[in-house]
Amino acid sequence: MAPVNGDLQLTFSKRRASENPSASAGLRMTILNRRTNISLMRATHLEDFYQFLRFPSISTDNDYSEKVSECAHWLVEKLTRMGLSARLHPTPGHPVVWAQNKHKAGRHTVLIYGHYDVQPPDPLELWESPPFEPVLKNGYVFARGATDNKGQILSHILGAQEQIEAAGDLPVNLHFVIEGEEEIGSGNLGNFLSQNQNALKCDVVVVSDTGMVARGVPTMSYGLRGVAALELKVSGPKIDLHSGIYGGAVANPLTALAQLLATLHDSEGHIAIAGFYDDVLPLPNWEREMWRKVPVNVDKEILKDTGVPQLFGEKGFSTLERIWSRPTAEVNGFSGGYQGRGTKTVIGREAFAKLTFRLVPNQAGDKITALAQEHFQKNCQPGVRLDMTAGHSGPWYLTDPHSKYGKAAQNALKHAFDRNPVLIREGGSIPIVSDFRRILGVETLLLGLALPDCRAHSPNENFPLENLDAGIRINKAVLQEIAG
Ligand code: BES
Ligand code: ZN
Repeated sequence: MAPVNGDLQLTFSKRRASENPSASAGLRMTILNRRTNISLMRATHLEDFYQFLRFPSISTDNDYSEKVSECAHWLVEKLTRMGLSARLHPTPGHPVVWAQNKHKAGRHTVLIYGHYDVQPPDPLELWESPPFEPVLKNGYVFARGATDNKGQILSHILGAQEQIEAAGDLPVNLHFVIEGEEEIGSGNLGNFLSQNQNALKCDVVVVSDTGMVARGVPTMSYGLRGVAALELKVSGPKIDLHSGIYGGAVANPLTALAQLLATLHDSEGHIAIAGFYDDVLPLPNWEREMWRKVPVNVDKEILKDTGVPQLFGEKGFSTLERIWSRPTAEVNGFSGGYQGRGTKTVIGREAFAKLTFRLVPNQAGDKITALAQEHFQKNCQPGVRLDMTAGHSGPWYLTDPHSKYGKAAQNALKHAFDRNPVLIREGGSIPIVSDFRRILGVETLLLGLALPDCRAHSPNENFPLENLDAGIRINKAVLQEIAG
């Protein structure tokens, strides 16, 4: 949903001490929203959000390692100032931020997970304002990471801060685990969990790194797709060749790769790799029925948000079924040959493609990448060489939304939004969630705050302050519900 001009009015006011239970709360910002209600947001919360967003904590690019680490240090300082005991834990990659309150016997223990790393902002020219200089427009903050995941994890931090200020403590024993490698597959967090398995013992994990089906509609996700990556390299001649002298005599690696990629799907959008669907479980009827009642016209929204001329996907399934319960194969990048200005009559010596598969219950990432490699090897023409490398992979996740903690989460969402939550699965992946189950033995509650048009991973990513506020309410409500 695009922010509407004139929708919001921001004013700043000093609240009188009698109105303000916490002296440090100080200056508050009034967000007047004609379509919803009036809420009060502290100016210091907005300042925290801006500071957090100004770090270009791009985990995938080593040139930014220093910035990633500065961002982690900022979090440790913030959490320490709130009265938590916070530390930075180095890993072979980017550090993990771990903070906790003073744990007391007899209380429930909650682990809140999030990530402070972000995706690269490219392509820069498509941003309306610089990605690491946050700006507020009509109640939405624009910056890389605003939604994914800085706004969402910060709302939990601020929720905890407000509770500590108001009551001196939290109703539960709390761990914050905030990592810097989620966007690159969380390769070091599993080890961190194993190494600290005892100290991290908890009853349940809470994560806000997923979506809401629409603005103002509380949403609990009980499933995520998994992901498995594969890179292809097709090599031909030992050097780039004149396409007039050699064209017709040798195979073109770019053409060979394009032909290979074209064998991935059949004409109805099904993946044509033998055995690919063997382990896919059929969608239970209760879920299909529940998803039919999701209170948004998803097809219409996706057409509007993406600007595509028409939707496309595997035949025989609705759009939501395709995104939430069916596996996919995507070509994420394709390169080789001459990319400069004008033309160059050349046969490039190499061509590359980066692929990821989204996985659903009960598919296994290593089996899928092995099947894909067999498929490509079999279909590759003899005039070129094909090399393949399997990359990171993360499993799918499915939990029971009606478990004891699932119900607690639903109650919390209802309390925070004054409306019954919608239960969904997600198409995206959060690889570490299955490790919380495998290593810590606990389930994860996914209480997302991302709006459908938040533009996560895209230019002009944004997060509404309304949802920063909602996240603070969710944090308070969910900790209270879990505390019982
Ligand atoms: N926040 C997303 C996960 C997500 C996206 C959940 C959309 C639900 C809906 C997360 O930061 C992310 O982007 N994960 C990556 C994982 C990958 C790099 C291993 C993803 O899904 O591509
Ligand atoms: Zn992401």
